[in-house]
Amino acid sequence: MEGLLATWYARNTLKSLADYRATAQRIAANLPPHAAVLEVAPGPGYLAIELAKLGAYRITGLDISQSFVRIATENAARAGAVVDFRQGEAAALPFAGDSFDLVVCRAAFKNFTDPLGALREMHRVLRPGGRALVIDLRNDASDEAIDDIVDQMNLSAFDSFMTRVIFKHSLRKRAYSREELAQMFAATPFGAGHFDETSLGFEIRLVKRP
Ligand SMILES: C[S@@+](CC[C@H](N)C(=O)[O-])C[C@H]1O[C@@H](n2cnc3c(N)ncnc32)[C@H](O)[C@@H]1O
Repeated sequence: MEGLLATWYARNTLKSLADYRATAQRIAANLPPHAAVLEVAPGPGYLAIELAKLGAYRITGLDISQSFVRIATENAARAGAVVDFRQGEAAALPFAGDSFDLVVCRAAFKNFTDPLGALREMHRVLRPGGRALVIDLRNDASDEAIDDIVDQMNLSAFDSFMTRVIFKHSLRKRAYSREELAQMFAATPFGAGHFDETSLGFEIRLVKRP
């Protein structure tokens, strides 16, 4: 996502800031002080920025989109948050092994061209005992579940229509089933993950075994 599309996404998702904040609070509740956190594919950076406000963490965000790296950097400066946003590819993370306590990836895993490569890279950069959290849409999310979430986004009539179309005709088609995700995790050193399910998606917790 680049240019106007990235700007459009950033503007729309800003209206869901409370949701990013709630996710950041749940993450912070289990995070050691001064933890090193990597968000893979942070887009406009709202989750990383909300997390940065909650503790003395060292937070890095890595996104393939130049536009999002610029937008996220501007958003962090505006919020007075310190997050190092960089451009790069999820399947080729430019970080040393064993360097993060937590890797988080929200609403992006289904977009990766090399999802297994991305998982292997998340595992490599985690320190032993470190955790990964993958949050994404499920491929069997119902039209009703999508309509409900879009209704909660507070969007204009046009943006609401476009968001519904994108969810139903693009994102859901790219999304994985629980079985597909479990198979992918099993094919990486993470092994099995712990799944929490909602009507819209999954939250999967993975651990790099010591
Ligand atoms: C729908 S956005 C989600 C952004 C953010 N995580 C959020 O929750 O709002 C998907 C993001 O994945 C990024 N992305 C897609 N493929 C990528 C890849 N191979 N490596 C890194 N980032 C990627 C896009 O640039 C975009 O920022």
